Amino acid sequence: MHISRRKFLTFAAASGSALLLPSRGTWGQMSGGGGAVASPPVTPFQVPLPISPILTPTQQSTTTDYYDVTMRAADVEIIPGTLTRIWGYNGITPGPTFRVKQGRAVVVRQHNNLPENTTVHLHGGHIPAQFDGHPIDYIAPGSYKDYSYPNTQLPATLWYHDHTMGLTGPHVWMGLAGVYIIEDDYEAGLGLPSGTNDVPVVIQDRRFASDGSLVYTGNLMGELGDTILANGAPYPYHEVGTRKVRFRFLNGSNARIYELALSNGQPFIQIGSDGGLLQAPVTRSSIVLAPAERADVVIDFSGLAVGTQVVLQNLQGSGSTAQIMRFDVAGKETDTSQVPATLRAVAALSPANAAATRTWVFSRTMSTTNPWVINGLLYDPARIDAQPRLGNIEVWSLTNRSMMDHPVHIHDIQWQILDINGTPPAAANRGWKDTFLVPAMGTVRVIGQFKDFTGVYMLHCHILEHEDHAMMAQFEVVA
Ligand code: C2O
Ligand code: CU
Ligand code: CU
Repeated sequence: MHISRRKFLTFAAASGSALLLPSRGTWGQMSGGGGAVASPPVTPFQVPLPISPILTPTQQSTTTDYYDVTMRAADVEIIPGTLTRIWGYNGITPGPTFRVKQGRAVVVRQHNNLPENTTVHLHGGHIPAQFDGHPIDYIAPGSYKDYSYPNTQLPATLWYHDHTMGLTGPHVWMGLAGVYIIEDDYEAGLGLPSGTNDVPVVIQDRRFASDGSLVYTGNLMGELGDTILANGAPYPYHEVGTRKVRFRFLNGSNARIYELALSNGQPFIQIGSDGGLLQAPVTRSSIVLAPAERADVVIDFSGLAVGTQVVLQNLQGSGSTAQIMRFDVAGKETDTSQVPATLRAVAALSPANAAATRTWVFSRTMSTTNPWVINGLLYDPARIDAQPRLGNIEVWSLTNRSMMDHPVHIHDIQWQILDINGTPPAAANRGWKDTFLVPAMGTVRVIGQFKDFTGVYMLHCHILEHEDHAMMAQFEVVA
């Protein structure tokens, strides 16, 4: 099969030459995924799961921790024997992990040493609008922006990633994403697995050329890779003891939906979702994780013999996308951790208290460049699509009038799911959420309360090529 080179925008930069992204408009010329090259095959389970370093503050005051991060290009070995040019926070992907204390403010100075405008968004963060990483609130190449995060929300696994207008897909694909964990003493007191037994796992699919460079086709349906990375490594293994281990799974992929399951049939004990702990643990044999969703789980390896290998599978994948990583039971360990029967109360919001109800319709047009719309409209940074009032509870009806699922994400606050196609959610979906997989031709109703901050925030599909082309809207919380 002959494949036209012109169709592929690879980021292989000749050594020393500047790495330039095509401007918006060059993206999305391909409407189908057919014809994409296959990545070099990778033998699974050859490399250990990388653990991104926990970032240390450069400065601390009585109220605030200050951090410094630089977005820059780097060449890293992902496919054995080749180098991949990535864009990373501090030159690594995923970027360094933040572990911050609820109630202590954080200021992150983000330097942009990349050749493109960027913005940085803290996904799931409840933060003032001017620090939310609005798509056109650019950090120009060579400059920086200070993002101030109050961390007053419930402890949760958040993530930070690029949110540049029209270029979020390629920028995240290049590596601009990292984990941001908020902790508090209450959660620490629950006795859950902690320290080296509390492991963030960022799951991403990518496609590589034979020279190791990332291939981004700009597929308007959603960019799919054929190689699965966990914390930036292809199909890694992770050694565990005969004990419980907490994994904070994040789907950091542009478009792929995973269904996580363990090869030995053992269930996960899910303890948290996007916005923090569930009210009570939920035992599940598989977990569907759409782009940007998080599942905080405990896996109990205590009943397994040393030497046992358990593969983390993707039940919605096939071939090279059917597995993600492997857990290797490497040694006996005594386990003093526990998963308490009650985690943290989640007080249900009642639709009876809602001041307004809004409907957001997600659909596709015939456009070959920007086919994805909300309420019939493409994203326009100059247009405000809704003005909820500060303090009010609202019910939002996310309605999908297209033939594919859309993981819809709402900035600013955490929500509760009222129902999915009219049915109340299962227990694992009754916690705090900011990303909702809205099924094809279906509806998810969510309820939330606008608190603390006025200003402009986004809602959008988290299939990044849908977001870029241009399934995004914005609301302004008004006093
Ligand atoms: Cu994770 Cu507006 O995005
Ligand atoms: Cu977000
Ligand atoms: Cu979508």
